[in-house]
Amino acid sequence: MRKPFLAGNWKMNTDAASAVALAKGIVAAVGQADNIDVAVCPPFVYLQAVAMALSSSNVALGAQDVFHQPDGAFTGEISCKMLKDVCCTYAIIGHSERRHVIGETDELINNKIKAAINGGLLPIFCVGELLEERQAGKTNRIVSDQVKKGLDGICQERILAVTIAYEPVWAIGTGVNATSQQAQEVHAMIRDLVAKLYNKEIAGQLRIQYGGSAKPANTAELMAQPDVDGLLIGGASLKASDFAAMINTSIQVKCK
Ligand code: PGA
Repeated sequence: MRKPFLAGNWKMNTDAASAVALAKGIVAAVGQADNIDVAVCPPFVYLQAVAMALSSSNVALGAQDVFHQPDGAFTGEISCKMLKDVCCTYAIIGHSERRHVIGETDELINNKIKAAINGGLLPIFCVGELLEERQAGKTNRIVSDQVKKGLDGICQERILAVTIAYEPVWAIGTGVNATSQQAQEVHAMIRDLVAKLYNKEIAGQLRIQYGGSAKPANTAELMAQPDVDGLLIGGASLKASDFAAMINTSIQVKCK
């Protein structure tokens, strides 16, 4: 049984006061629930303040990115050790906005995933196809290529540190989510691929989140899919009541 896992990706939103208020609202909503994993990923500069707001709660802290080098002359970058220092548990790696807006490559993403695992962080590794790739029938090829390249060199003993997030690029921030059937198809394909790359037992344990316009209204349907283990949530995670509703629905769907 895979424990459901919901993560809020705040992207470049909030300010110091609203980040702390949002974190406190989420902590209050999650309460003592221990049958679900919940994380929030604020902008780097608010990590420490949010960490304090989350202290002694069940809500974990994540960063939106991490650099693979341990230290040195890398202006603007943030290391695993720095993130651990401010109480991060997770790091989102390879988000589509970093792939397509900033230009991150599969190789860089692979280096970041390996560094994160070695540094004691749990990567949320994002993959997903562009609209034109889906329309050209290339979804499975693109996504499996991203998964293979991203996980290259990660051994059996360490792979379960990773959560994969399937985020079709055309669904992110557009209000158009993948249907539950489209999500399930790709999630099942990723799980089969993980079984081939590692083994069936690992594939059965690895969590795969869906992301892309997930919101309270589509949470039950998405989470009801057998291979959808959680959600990576952008817009809807910026409102504590929406995020809380999605957490409660996920518990109801997966833990009945
Ligand atoms: P969205 O973003 O929920 O606003 O579509 C998801 C994400 O980019 O992780």
